[in-house]
Amino acid sequence: MKFLVMNGVNLNLTGKREKGVYGNATLDEINARIAAYCEQNGDQVEFYQSNIEGELVDKLHEAYLQKTCDGIVFNAGAFTHYSYALRDAIAAIDIPVVETHISNVHAREEFRKTSVLSEVCKGVVCGFGEGSYIAAIAGLKAALGK
Ligand code: DQA
Repeated sequence: MKFLVMNGVNLNLTGKREKGVYGNATLDEINARIAAYCEQNGDQVEFYQSNIEGELVDKLHEAYLQKTCDGIVFNAGAFTHYSYALRDAIAAIDIPVVETHISNVHAREEFRKTSVLSEVCKGVVCGFGEGSYIAAIAGLKAALGK
């Protein structure tokens, strides 16, 4: 299978910001571990990060129009809580998307408990640190039966 792992706003600073919340591993280190996991399973993975909402929308469109992957793991960062544009883009595509968060968003500030993305996602994983990404891929593999 082929997966696309997308990270949104501020996730490029993972391992360099709020380490007590998001951990010490950088996004490159996390991506290397995800790549190793996918390789073990004979799966392919592509990574994408942007701080720009429209670029994330474009990447979702590209995945759909060019059929680049079977499933998408998406940590949209703070966009999760208010981006109707990303919600509509996820709803527009026929590729399953797993909303993913490093932290447990339900155990934090009130505004993080709202996601405008969850309703249009296949599933949601949060709270397992960098392990959330691996859990999301494992969930997609189980759901897609491959
Ligand atoms: C996050 C949680 C969001 O609320 C926050 O805005 C982020 C990261 C997470 O991975 O835990 O930037 O998506």
